[in-house]
Amino acid sequence: MHRIAVLAGDGIGPEVMTESLRVLDAVEAKFDFTTERTEALVGGAALDATDNETPLPKATIQACEASDGILFGSVGGPKWENLPPDIQPERGALLPLRKHFGLFANLRPGVCLPSLTHASPIKNELVPDGFDVLCVRELTGGVYFGTPKGREERDGEPVAFDTMVYKKSEIERILHVAFTAAMQRDKRVTSVDKANVLATSVLWRETAIEVAGHYPDVTLDHLYVDNAAMQLCRRPGSFDVLVTENLFGDILSDEMAMISGSLGMLPSASLGSKKEGTDLYFGMYEPSGGSAPDIAGQGIANPIAQILSASMLLRYSLGEGEAADALDAAVARTIDDGLRTGDIATGAEGETRVGTREMADAVIERL
Ligand code: IPM
Ligand code: MG
Repeated sequence: MHRIAVLAGDGIGPEVMTESLRVLDAVEAKFDFTTERTEALVGGAALDATDNETPLPKATIQACEASDGILFGSVGGPKWENLPPDIQPERGALLPLRKHFGLFANLRPGVCLPSLTHASPIKNELVPDGFDVLCVRELTGGVYFGTPKGREERDGEPVAFDTMVYKKSEIERILHVAFTAAMQRDKRVTSVDKANVLATSVLWRETAIEVAGHYPDVTLDHLYVDNAAMQLCRRPGSFDVLVTENLFGDILSDEMAMISGSLGMLPSASLGSKKEGTDLYFGMYEPSGGSAPDIAGQGIANPIAQILSASMLLRYSLGEGEAADALDAAVARTIDDGLRTGDIATGAEGETRVGTREMADAVIERL
């Protein structure tokens, strides 16, 4: 029996979460295991329930602590945009969750299936076979969390400052995650930095070269982040694993998600340390896209990012790799068979337009 914390959150979060849990029911029946699920409030939903006290109640943290992994929906929306920044759903819930659970490794797959190249804004002749890039983003260090951080008066005017800081050990451990992932893939790592300007990047690059020594089968190359941003939209098919620090990863992973065609297809995993004596991580799994308030409640959101997030949870935190493989294959067949929510539809022949629930049904049928 596995224990998972279910944090649906806001916007389309609850509706895609409901569908992913139905899919999970079907996976469990087929592969003969069970999950005990504890639902907890997060984001705007938690603010509403606590009279705007917090987007991350203690009970939610406790539910997560008692679990093997967290299945997360999405948080945020216009209703909470004018609250003080510290309690806004994104900053007040996501960042503290990452920090509290030490979720330092953010895996964001940027996959454009060959059958969905039309959805990519990249000229199709540049990506005839789609592409499959894995972005590995450092998630608990760098300028997001460095101190001093703040704002004060200097010489009669407001001054604000953030600090970008990295310990070598923080760089090493994220690079090991990237190289380990590359070993299961095409064995190529591109490390992205700004070593022509930043001291943290000089240390980053040195460390990348050192860590690469432990993985003789993997080739390593380096790109400055500005160049990486260009190359990603010029030759996305040429990358295998990208690894980079927190802020660069925030920006590049959004670029990658955009060029892959639909955010509605992309899951993500934020992993902490390994559970003792196992190869499993404590982790939080969530769609790469946001809460999409503009389409929430209409039953039209693509549930696949949430379904694939559940698959990553099965693989990395629950040790149900076979079930995860089957689920990934069922999703791929669903797309191959032409089922399309609005975000990935073109109206081409052979496509069937479906809503959130029907898309999940189609995945369940193909399991
Ligand atoms: C992300 C988001 C967050 C980040 C925000 C919401 C704090 O953009 O997960 O990429 O910057 O990390
Ligand atoms: Mg981001």
